Amino acid sequence: MSNSFQQLFPSTNELCYLNHAAMAPWPTLVSEAVQSFAEENARIGARDYDTWMQRENDCRERFARLLNAQADDIALLKNTTEGLSVVAQGLPWKAGDNIVIPDCEFPSNRLPWVQLESLGVAVRSVAIHVNDPEQALQAACDENTRLLAVSAVQYADGLRLHLDKLGRFCQANQVLFCVDAIQQVGMLPLDVQACHIDFLSADAHKWMLGPEGLAVFYTHPDVREQLTLTQSGWRQMDNPFQFHRNSWEPSKTGRRFEAGSPNMLGIVATHAALGMLLEIGMDTVAQRAMANGDYLRNQLSQRDNIELLGNTAPERCSAIVNFRPLGVLPAALYRDLRKVDVITALRGEGLRLSPHFYQSTALLDTALQHIDEILASQTE
Ligand SMILES: Cc1ncc(COP(=O)(O)O)c(C=O)c1O
Repeated sequence: MSNSFQQLFPSTNELCYLNHAAMAPWPTLVSEAVQSFAEENARIGARDYDTWMQRENDCRERFARLLNAQADDIALLKNTTEGLSVVAQGLPWKAGDNIVIPDCEFPSNRLPWVQLESLGVAVRSVAIHVNDPEQALQAACDENTRLLAVSAVQYADGLRLHLDKLGRFCQANQVLFCVDAIQQVGMLPLDVQACHIDFLSADAHKWMLGPEGLAVFYTHPDVREQLTLTQSGWRQMDNPFQFHRNSWEPSKTGRRFEAGSPNMLGIVATHAALGMLLEIGMDTVAQRAMANGDYLRNQLSQRDNIELLGNTAPERCSAIVNFRPLGVLPAALYRDLRKVDVITALRGEGLRLSPHFYQSTALLDTALQHIDEILASQTE
Protein backbone atom coordinates (compact mmCIF):
# COMPACT_ATOMS: atom_id res chain seq x y z
CA MET A 1 0.00 0.00 0.00
CA SER A 2 2.02 3.00 -1.14
CA ASN A 3 0.42 6.28 -0.31
CA SER A 4 0.79 10.00 -0.21
CA PHE A 5 -0.88 10.26 3.20
CA GLN A 6 2.49 9.51 4.79
CA GLN A 7 3.75 12.86 3.54
CA LEU A 8 1.31 14.56 5.88
CA PHE A 9 3.15 13.06 8.87
CA PRO A 10 6.83 14.03 9.35
CA SER A 11 7.21 11.22 11.92
CA THR A 12 7.17 8.70 9.07
CA ASN A 13 10.64 9.98 8.04
CA GLU A 14 12.06 9.17 11.45
CA LEU A 15 10.41 6.08 12.84
CA CYS A 16 7.88 3.27 12.61
CA TYR A 17 5.36 4.72 14.99
CA LEU A 18 2.93 1.92 15.85
CA ASN A 19 1.49 3.40 19.01
CA HIS A 20 -1.58 5.46 18.07
CA ALA A 21 -3.55 3.66 20.77
CA ALA A 22 -1.36 5.55 23.25
CA MET A 23 -0.65 8.89 21.62
CA ALA A 24 -0.39 9.98 17.98
CA PRO A 25 2.40 11.92 16.33
CA TRP A 26 0.96 15.13 14.91
CA PRO A 27 0.45 15.71 11.21
CA THR A 28 2.23 18.80 9.85
CA LEU A 29 -1.11 20.56 9.60
CA VAL A 30 -1.57 20.35 13.38
CA SER A 31 1.92 21.58 14.24
CA GLU A 32 1.49 24.46 11.76
CA ALA A 33 -1.83 25.44 13.32
CA VAL A 34 -0.20 25.49 16.76
CA GLN A 35 2.79 27.50 15.49
CA SER A 36 0.61 30.04 13.82
CA PHE A 37 -1.55 30.40 16.94
CA ALA A 38 1.59 30.86 19.05
CA GLU A 39 2.84 33.57 16.71
CA GLU A 40 -0.53 35.31 16.74
CA ASN A 41 -0.55 35.29 20.55
CA ALA A 42 2.94 36.75 20.67
CA ARG A 43 2.18 39.44 18.09
CA ILE A 44 -1.32 40.64 18.91
CA GLY A 45 -2.51 38.71 21.94
CA ALA A 46 -6.24 38.09 21.97
CA ARG A 47 -7.11 41.11 19.81
CA ASP A 48 -9.02 38.82 17.43
CA TYR A 49 -10.69 36.73 20.12
CA ASP A 50 -13.85 36.57 18.01
CA THR A 51 -12.00 34.36 15.53
CA TRP A 52 -10.85 32.13 18.39
CA MET A 53 -14.43 31.65 19.50
CA GLN A 54 -15.39 30.90 15.93
CA ARG A 55 -12.76 28.15 15.89
CA GLU A 56 -14.03 26.84 19.22
CA ASN A 57 -17.53 26.57 17.76
CA ASP A 58 -16.19 24.96 14.60
CA CYS A 59 -14.37 22.44 16.75
CA ARG A 60 -17.66 21.47 18.39
CA GLU A 61 -19.21 21.21 14.91
CA ARG A 62 -16.41 18.96 13.74
CA PHE A 63 -16.74 16.65 16.73
CA ALA A 64 -20.48 16.57 16.11
CA ARG A 65 -19.95 15.57 12.48
CA LEU A 66 -17.61 12.78 13.53
CA LEU A 67 -20.21 11.40 15.95
CA ASN A 68 -23.41 12.14 13.98
CA ALA A 69 -24.47 14.49 16.78
CA GLN A 70 -25.42 18.17 17.01
CA ALA A 71 -22.87 20.78 18.06
CA ASP A 72 -25.13 21.61 21.00
CA ASP A 73 -24.61 18.07 22.33
CA ILE A 74 -20.86 18.60 22.58
CA ALA A 75 -18.81 19.87 25.52
CA LEU A 76 -15.08 20.44 25.22
CA LEU A 77 -13.52 18.99 28.34
CA LYS A 78 -9.95 18.16 29.18
CA ASN A 79 -9.85 14.37 28.91
CA THR A 80 -11.85 11.16 28.77
CA THR A 81 -11.67 10.75 32.52
CA GLU A 82 -13.22 14.14 33.10
CA GLY A 83 -16.25 13.33 30.93
CA LEU A 84 -16.80 9.98 32.62
CA SER A 85 -16.41 11.64 36.03
CA VAL A 86 -19.03 14.27 35.13
CA VAL A 87 -21.44 11.36 34.59
CA ALA A 88 -20.34 9.48 37.73
CA GLN A 89 -20.52 12.54 39.95
CA GLY A 90 -23.60 14.00 38.29
CA LEU A 91 -26.18 11.21 38.26
CA PRO A 92 -28.51 10.97 41.24
CA TRP A 93 -27.44 7.56 42.61
CA LYS A 94 -29.19 5.72 45.38
CA ALA A 95 -28.00 2.81 47.49
CA GLY A 96 -28.81 -0.46 45.74
CA ASP A 97 -28.18 0.86 42.22
CA ASN A 98 -25.63 -0.99 40.14
CA ILE A 99 -23.36 -0.17 37.22
CA VAL A 100 -22.19 -2.78 34.71
CA ILE A 101 -18.73 -2.53 33.13
CA PRO A 102 -16.36 -4.95 31.35
CA ASP A 103 -13.70 -6.50 33.59
CA CYS A 104 -10.75 -5.35 31.48
CA GLU A 105 -11.41 -1.61 31.21
CA PHE A 106 -8.72 1.04 31.24
CA PRO A 107 -8.83 2.70 34.70
CA SER A 108 -10.59 5.79 33.29
CA ASN A 109 -13.71 3.71 32.81
CA ARG A 110 -13.49 1.91 36.14
CA LEU A 111 -12.28 4.27 38.85
CA PRO A 112 -15.07 6.91 38.55
CA TRP A 113 -17.67 4.12 39.03
CA VAL A 114 -15.81 2.28 41.80
CA GLN A 115 -15.71 5.54 43.73
CA LEU A 116 -19.51 5.35 43.97
CA GLU A 117 -19.35 2.17 46.01
CA SER A 118 -19.16 4.34 49.14
CA LEU A 119 -22.73 5.46 48.29
CA GLY A 120 -23.96 1.86 48.17
CA VAL A 121 -23.71 1.60 44.38
CA ALA A 122 -22.41 -1.79 43.20
CA VAL A 123 -20.03 -2.10 40.24
CA ARG A 124 -20.45 -5.36 38.35
CA SER A 125 -17.38 -6.31 36.30
CA VAL A 126 -18.17 -8.68 33.48
CA ALA A 127 -15.76 -10.92 31.54
CA ILE A 128 -16.08 -9.93 27.88
CA HIS A 129 -13.47 -12.19 26.29
CA VAL A 130 -16.19 -14.72 25.68
CA ASN A 131 -18.21 -15.86 22.67
CA ASP A 132 -20.87 -13.20 22.97
CA PRO A 133 -19.63 -10.21 25.00
CA GLU A 134 -22.79 -8.15 24.50
CA GLN A 135 -24.92 -11.00 25.81
CA ALA A 136 -22.60 -11.35 28.83
CA LEU A 137 -22.97 -7.63 29.62
CA GLN A 138 -26.73 -7.72 29.18
CA ALA A 139 -27.04 -10.80 31.39
CA ALA A 140 -25.31 -8.92 34.22
CA CYS A 141 -27.98 -6.17 34.16
CA ASP A 142 -31.08 -6.34 36.33
CA GLU A 143 -33.85 -3.98 37.45
CA ASN A 144 -31.34 -2.05 39.61
CA THR A 145 -28.88 -1.39 36.79
CA ARG A 146 -28.73 2.34 36.18
CA LEU A 147 -25.80 2.48 33.78
CA LEU A 148 -23.79 0.34 31.38
CA ALA A 149 -20.34 1.82 30.72
CA VAL A 150 -18.04 0.30 28.11
CA SER A 151 -15.04 1.13 25.99
CA ALA A 152 -16.02 0.97 22.34
CA VAL A 153 -12.68 -0.71 21.63
CA GLN A 154 -10.56 -2.29 24.37
CA TYR A 155 -7.22 -0.56 24.88
CA ALA A 156 -5.08 -3.67 25.36
CA ASP A 157 -6.13 -6.03 22.58
CA GLY A 158 -8.47 -3.96 20.41
CA LEU A 159 -11.62 -6.00 21.07
CA ARG A 160 -14.54 -4.17 19.48
CA LEU A 161 -17.98 -4.24 21.05
CA HIS A 162 -21.21 -4.00 19.08
CA LEU A 163 -22.39 -0.67 20.44
CA ASP A 164 -25.62 -0.70 18.44
CA LYS A 165 -26.71 -3.94 20.10
CA LEU A 166 -25.82 -2.68 23.58
CA GLY A 167 -27.53 0.65 22.91
CA ARG A 168 -30.76 -1.04 21.82
CA PHE A 169 -30.74 -3.18 24.95
CA CYS A 170 -30.15 -0.14 27.18
CA GLN A 171 -32.91 1.81 25.54
CA ALA A 172 -35.38 -1.04 25.92
CA ASN A 173 -34.48 -1.54 29.58
CA GLN A 174 -34.15 2.06 30.85
CA VAL A 175 -30.42 1.63 31.43
CA LEU A 176 -28.22 4.64 30.66
CA PHE A 177 -25.50 3.89 28.10
CA CYS A 178 -22.07 5.49 28.53
CA VAL A 179 -19.18 4.94 26.12
CA ASP A 180 -15.47 5.57 26.53
CA ALA A 181 -14.76 6.10 22.84
CA ILE A 182 -11.11 7.16 22.90
CA GLN A 183 -9.99 3.96 21.16
CA GLN A 184 -12.56 4.27 18.37
CA VAL A 185 -13.17 7.88 17.37
CA GLY A 186 -10.71 8.77 14.60
CA MET A 187 -10.06 5.10 13.82
CA LEU A 188 -13.56 3.88 12.98
CA PRO A 189 -16.84 5.75 12.45
CA LEU A 190 -19.10 6.06 15.48
CA ASP A 191 -22.75 7.09 15.33
CA VAL A 192 -24.15 8.13 18.71
CA GLN A 193 -27.71 8.16 17.39
CA ALA A 194 -27.64 4.76 15.73
CA CYS A 195 -26.08 3.31 18.90
CA HIS A 196 -28.50 5.05 21.32
CA ILE A 197 -25.61 6.44 23.33
CA ASP A 198 -26.46 8.70 26.27
CA PHE A 199 -22.95 9.81 27.26
CA LEU A 200 -19.65 9.56 25.38
CA SER A 201 -16.18 10.77 26.24
CA ALA A 202 -12.95 10.70 24.23
CA ASP A 203 -9.68 12.60 24.39
CA ALA A 204 -8.13 13.76 21.09
CA HIS A 205 -4.56 12.55 21.47
CA LYS A 206 -4.91 9.03 20.07
CA TRP A 207 -6.70 8.17 16.82
CA MET A 208 -7.98 11.72 16.38
CA LEU A 209 -4.35 12.87 15.94
CA GLY A 210 -4.69 15.85 18.25
CA PRO A 211 -3.07 16.92 21.52
CA GLU A 212 -3.58 15.73 25.08
CA GLY A 213 -5.88 17.87 27.18
CA LEU A 214 -8.83 18.33 24.81
CA ALA A 215 -11.69 15.86 24.84
CA VAL A 216 -15.15 15.56 23.39
CA PHE A 217 -17.94 14.93 25.88
CA TYR A 218 -21.26 14.10 24.23
CA THR A 219 -24.54 14.06 26.12
CA HIS A 220 -27.92 13.13 24.65
CA PRO A 221 -30.31 16.08 25.11
CA ASP A 222 -32.93 13.90 26.82
CA VAL A 223 -30.63 12.89 29.67
CA ARG A 224 -28.26 15.86 29.86
CA GLU A 225 -30.08 17.56 32.69
CA GLN A 226 -30.08 14.41 34.80
CA LEU A 227 -26.45 15.29 35.48
CA THR A 228 -26.11 17.62 38.44
CA LEU A 229 -23.37 20.11 37.64
CA THR A 230 -20.29 19.69 39.77
CA GLN A 231 -18.71 22.99 38.67
CA SER A 232 -20.15 26.47 38.33
CA GLY A 233 -18.68 29.28 36.27
CA TRP A 234 -19.21 32.10 33.82
CA ARG A 235 -18.48 30.11 30.68
CA GLN A 236 -21.34 27.65 31.10
CA MET A 237 -23.93 30.30 30.17
CA ASP A 238 -25.34 30.79 26.67
CA ASN A 239 -23.92 34.29 26.38
CA PRO A 240 -20.90 34.02 28.61
CA PHE A 241 -19.69 37.57 28.05
CA GLN A 242 -22.79 39.18 29.60
CA PHE A 243 -21.18 39.61 32.97
CA HIS A 244 -23.99 41.76 34.35
CA ARG A 245 -27.14 39.76 34.32
CA ASN A 246 -29.91 38.72 36.64
CA SER A 247 -30.16 35.07 35.70
CA TRP A 248 -27.21 32.69 35.87
CA GLU A 249 -29.01 29.74 34.36
CA PRO A 250 -26.52 27.31 32.76
CA SER A 251 -26.95 26.64 29.06
CA LYS A 252 -29.22 23.76 28.08
CA THR A 253 -26.49 22.66 25.64
CA GLY A 254 -23.31 20.73 26.33
CA ARG A 255 -21.69 24.05 27.22
CA ARG A 256 -23.22 23.67 30.66
CA PHE A 257 -20.30 21.35 31.47
CA GLU A 258 -17.66 23.97 30.53
CA ALA A 259 -17.37 26.19 33.57
CA GLY A 260 -14.36 28.40 32.81
CA SER A 261 -11.97 29.52 30.06
CA PRO A 262 -11.38 26.91 27.37
CA ASN A 263 -8.14 25.19 26.41
CA MET A 264 -7.90 27.33 23.28
CA LEU A 265 -4.48 25.99 22.31
CA GLY A 266 -5.83 22.43 22.46
CA ILE A 267 -8.88 23.53 20.49
CA VAL A 268 -6.70 25.03 17.74
CA ALA A 269 -4.72 21.81 17.40
CA THR A 270 -7.74 19.51 17.59
CA HIS A 271 -9.71 21.66 15.17
CA ALA A 272 -6.94 21.16 12.59
CA ALA A 273 -6.69 17.42 13.22
CA LEU A 274 -10.45 16.88 12.95
CA GLY A 275 -10.55 18.97 9.79
CA MET A 276 -8.06 16.60 8.20
CA LEU A 277 -9.94 13.46 9.26
CA LEU A 278 -13.23 14.86 7.96
CA GLU A 279 -11.72 15.96 4.69
CA ILE A 280 -10.16 12.56 4.04
CA GLY A 281 -13.39 10.99 5.25
CA MET A 282 -13.86 8.53 8.10
CA ASP A 283 -14.76 5.73 5.67
CA THR A 284 -11.37 6.04 3.99
CA VAL A 285 -9.57 6.45 7.32
CA ALA A 286 -11.30 3.40 8.79
CA GLN A 287 -10.78 1.23 5.74
CA ARG A 288 -7.06 2.02 5.69
CA ALA A 289 -6.53 1.75 9.46
CA MET A 290 -8.29 -1.62 9.47
CA ALA A 291 -6.32 -2.79 6.44
CA ASN A 292 -3.10 -1.96 8.30
CA GLY A 293 -4.29 -3.82 11.41
CA ASP A 294 -5.33 -6.80 9.25
CA TYR A 295 -2.01 -6.78 7.44
CA LEU A 296 -0.06 -6.96 10.70
CA ARG A 297 -2.37 -9.66 12.11
CA ASN A 298 -2.07 -11.69 8.94
CA GLN A 299 1.71 -11.38 8.75
CA LEU A 300 2.24 -12.13 12.45
CA SER A 301 -0.07 -15.15 12.33
CA GLN A 302 2.22 -16.74 9.72
CA ARG A 303 5.18 -16.76 12.11
CA ASP A 304 5.59 -19.77 14.36
CA ASN A 305 7.49 -17.79 17.01
CA ILE A 306 4.54 -15.47 17.62
CA GLU A 307 1.16 -15.96 19.25
CA LEU A 308 -1.56 -13.49 18.33
CA LEU A 309 -3.63 -12.41 21.34
CA GLY A 310 -7.24 -11.31 21.44
CA ASN A 311 -10.27 -12.08 19.32
CA THR A 312 -9.33 -12.03 15.62
CA ALA A 313 -12.83 -12.41 14.20
CA PRO A 314 -13.25 -9.65 11.57
CA GLU A 315 -16.19 -7.96 13.32
CA ARG A 316 -14.32 -7.97 16.66
CA CYS A 317 -10.91 -6.65 15.71
CA SER A 318 -9.64 -3.14 15.09
CA ALA A 319 -6.38 -1.41 14.22
CA ILE A 320 -5.03 -2.54 17.59
CA VAL A 321 -2.99 -5.74 17.34
CA ASN A 322 -1.54 -7.57 20.33
CA PHE A 323 0.87 -10.52 20.27
CA ARG A 324 3.21 -12.51 22.43
CA PRO A 325 6.65 -13.47 21.13
CA LEU A 326 7.41 -17.09 22.04
CA GLY A 327 10.62 -17.71 23.94
CA VAL A 328 11.31 -13.99 24.40
CA LEU A 329 9.83 -11.64 26.97
CA PRO A 330 7.53 -8.99 25.45
CA ALA A 331 9.45 -6.38 27.47
CA ALA A 332 12.75 -7.41 25.86
CA LEU A 333 11.28 -7.20 22.37
CA TYR A 334 9.67 -3.85 23.20
CA ARG A 335 13.00 -2.45 24.41
CA ASP A 336 14.96 -3.67 21.39
CA LEU A 337 12.34 -2.37 18.97
CA ARG A 338 12.66 1.08 20.52
CA LYS A 339 16.40 0.99 19.83
CA VAL A 340 15.65 0.70 16.11
CA ASP A 341 12.88 3.31 16.28
CA VAL A 342 9.92 0.98 16.15
CA ILE A 343 7.54 2.41 18.72
CA THR A 344 5.08 -0.02 20.29
CA ALA A 345 3.56 -0.51 23.75
CA LEU A 346 3.45 -3.22 26.39
CA ARG A 347 -0.19 -3.85 27.18
CA GLY A 348 -2.09 -6.78 28.60
CA GLU A 349 -0.11 -9.98 28.11
CA GLY A 350 1.84 -8.86 25.09
CA LEU A 351 3.16 -6.24 22.76
CA ARG A 352 0.61 -3.89 21.23
CA LEU A 353 0.93 -2.50 17.70
CA SER A 354 -1.44 0.24 16.66
CA PRO A 355 -0.92 1.57 13.12
CA HIS A 356 -3.05 4.36 11.68
CA PHE A 357 -4.53 4.98 8.25
CA TYR A 358 -1.69 7.01 6.78
CA GLN A 359 1.03 4.40 7.16
CA SER A 360 2.19 2.34 4.20
CA THR A 361 2.65 -1.41 3.96
CA ALA A 362 6.36 -0.74 3.40
CA LEU A 363 6.52 0.95 6.80
CA LEU A 364 4.75 -2.00 8.41
CA ASP A 365 7.15 -4.39 6.64
CA THR A 366 10.10 -2.52 8.14
CA ALA A 367 8.65 -3.06 11.62
CA LEU A 368 8.01 -6.74 10.88
CA GLN A 369 11.55 -7.19 9.63
CA HIS A 370 12.92 -5.69 12.86
CA ILE A 371 10.67 -7.99 14.89
CA ASP A 372 12.01 -11.01 12.96
CA GLU A 373 15.62 -9.96 13.37
CA ILE A 374 15.31 -9.27 17.10
CA LEU A 375 13.49 -12.55 17.76
CA ALA A 376 16.07 -14.47 15.73
CA SER A 377 18.97 -12.86 17.63
CA GLN A 378 17.37 -13.31 21.04
CA THR A 379 16.56 -16.98 20.59
CA GLU A 380 19.91 -17.90 19.01
C1 LIG B 1 -9.90 3.06 26.87
C2 LIG B 1 -9.16 4.27 27.39
N1 LIG B 1 -9.83 5.19 28.08
C3 LIG B 1 -9.22 6.32 28.53
C4 LIG B 1 -7.87 6.53 28.31
C5 LIG B 1 -7.21 7.78 28.75
O1 LIG B 1 -8.08 8.64 29.39
P1 LIG B 1 -7.76 10.18 29.53
O2 LIG B 1 -8.13 10.84 28.25
O3 LIG B 1 -8.60 10.61 30.66
O4 LIG B 1 -6.30 10.30 29.85
C6 LIG B 1 -7.14 5.57 27.61
C7 LIG B 1 -5.68 5.77 27.39
O5 LIG B 1 -4.94 4.88 27.11
C8 LIG B 1 -7.79 4.43 27.13
O6 LIG B 1 -7.14 3.50 26.43
